[in-house]
This record gives sequence, structure tokens and C-alpha cells, in this order.
Amino acid sequence: MRLPTITAAPGTPPGGPPALGDDGWVVTRHADVLAALTDSRCVVPPVADGPEGSVAWLRASVSRFSPPDRHAARRAVGVAALDPRELRLAAARLTERILGSSSEESVTRARRVPLLVLAERLGPADPAAAATEVSAVAAAYHPGADAAATRRADRAVAALLALSPPAPAEVTANRLGLLVQAADATAGLIDAAVRHGRAVPDGLATATLLAEVLRLDPPVRATRRVATCALNLGGQGVRAGDRLVLRFDAANRDPAVIADPDRFRADPAGMALTFGAGPRGCPGERHALALATGVVDVLRHASGTLIEGSRR
Ligand code: HEM
Repeated sequence: MRLPTITAAPGTPPGGPPALGDDGWVVTRHADVLAALTDSRCVVPPVADGPEGSVAWLRASVSRFSPPDRHAARRAVGVAALDPRELRLAAARLTERILGSSSEESVTRARRVPLLVLAERLGPADPAAAATEVSAVAAAYHPGADAAATRRADRAVAALLALSPPAPAEVTANRLGLLVQAADATAGLIDAAVRHGRAVPDGLATATLLAEVLRLDPPVRATRRVATCALNLGGQGVRAGDRLVLRFDAANRDPAVIADPDRFRADPAGMALTFGAGPRGCPGERHALALATGVVDVLRHASGTLIEGSRR
């Protein structure tokens, strides 16, 4: 089976010991990224609260940005009610219904499917309207977004709250947070799977395609932590308050963990850190894979049919 080589995307830092950059320590080796993700002295950077119904309020209310003492209870909201097998079937059915006349049009429509399927199950009264608003929130979800994107996100959070069924504010916030977490990352995985899927044999299982795309072209390239005290990370002395940028894209190609790291493998090594690790690791990993598999299976089948059709 001929499989491609996928070189690192521009901007992926080279591997090596943690290096101090403008934005804190850049951490690239697999062992160092994993150590930081699972070290309770490395915490998610704290976020400022804002008026109820703003994107700053949403950030301060969701598990993703919560301090350790609020994290576990908030994390429990949402994912447990979702069944990956049912999500996969629903994603495949919806993708079949919305296929376009060209593969580009189909992909554009299909990348919204995970969000629509999740929104239908998480409560907002009008899933299609909610999906549009969620995309606006996603653009300013992480701290540091510009003022215009933040204003759009504030309006979108207010619209989402109006669409949501009655529930305690923190429960609603965490359901919305789950939609935001899921939206761009799963759409990015579908985009990358379609792009790289053209270079792999038709017979390659979609699960293998997704696993290697997550390793070699991750839709989430990095995450952040702050050190709460002085510690040693990969031989470097990190001081209390130092920021850490944990680069999944570099760690997933660490030659200390995977031989010939740029080569697409038919037997994924299962070492990718794209879903994070430890108590903050993605609780939606199985859900993301189920949704993406449902969508990508249908797209791969449809593009095969289109090619065969055009040969006749
Ligand atoms: C390819 C798709 C996805 C990728 C690559 C991804 C990746 C991640 C990563 C890396 C984190 C942890 C960030 C950190 O430790 O700083 C995270 C957190 C999270 N993800 Fe995902 N995710 C994906 C899809 C999803 C989906 C589909 C859901 C929901 C069904 C979801 C729900 C969440 C939630 C709620 C958190 C916050 C967890 C917490 O606060 O403990 N994600 N995700």
C-alpha cells in the first residue's frame, strides 16, 4: 500500500528542549508536553470574568478555563449524555442528505454537520441558528481575541442564551462551551481528512486516516499552561508564573517516540497528543472521532461514486 509523506505545516517549531520565546516556553518534545499536561503545578491560564451573557462570562463559566477547584463539576456537564455510536449514525445520515453537486460544495456543507448534530442534542431551540452563533463565539473563545471579534462573540453568546432551554446558568454555559470546543476542531479534522484522503488508497480505513491526520496535521496545534511554582521541565528551570506553549504538532512528530515521523502509517502508533492528556484532556475524543467518521465515510464514498460516474 503506497502511503504519503506529510511534512510539518509552516510554523511548526523544531523539536528540542523547552525554549524560551516571546510568548513563554515553547515545549515541543513528546515527553515534555505530556509531563506538563499531567503535572498539577502547570495550570490552565486564569481568565477574567465579564458581565453575564458576554463571551468573557462564558469563558469564566466553562470547565475548559476553570481553576482546578471548579473544574471537575463543570466538566461533568454535557458529554456524558452523548452516545458516540448514535452521533456517528446521525452525522452520516445528515451528510448524505446535504451532499452538494461538487465535492467542494459537499465538504463545505459537511464540515458543519458535527456542530448541527451536537446542537440538536444539546438543547438550543434552533440548531441551525445556534450553529451560526457558535462559530462566532469560537472565533473569540480563547483569550486575546480582537475587539471586533469579541463584540460579535458577545452578541452570539446572548443569542445562544435566548435559544437555550431553561437551566441553571452554569449548566447552559457548559453546554454552549462544549459546542464551541467541538465546532472548529471537528470541522478542521474533516477538512484535513478530505485533503489528505486524496493521497491515500481508497481501501484505507477511515479510522486510520483520521488517526494519522490527527497526528500529522492536527486541527488543534497547541495549548497553554502557566507554572504555579518553580519546576524542572525537560531539563530547563521554569519559574513560578512562567507561561508554557505546549505544541502538539511538534510532539506528534517526536522521533524519540515515533520512527520516521513524517511518514503516514497504516498502523497508527497511538502516540498523538492532539486531544491533550490528563485531567484536562478532551472528554469528547470518542465523540469527535464518531462524528468525523460518519461524515468522512460518506464523503469518501460519494467522491468515489462521482469519479466512477464521470468515467462512464
Ligand atoms: C478533532 C476534534 C477535537 C480535538 C482535536 C479536541 C481537542 C481538545 C483538547 C486538546 C482539549 C484540552 C485542552 C487543554 O488541555 O488545554 C479539549 C478540551 C475539551 N474538548 Fe475537545 N477536541 C475535539 C472535539 C471535541 C468534541 C466533539 C467535544 C464534545 C463533544 C469536545 C469537548 C471538549 C471539552 C468540553 C473540553 C474541555 C475539557 C475540560 O475542561 O476539562 N471536544 N479538546
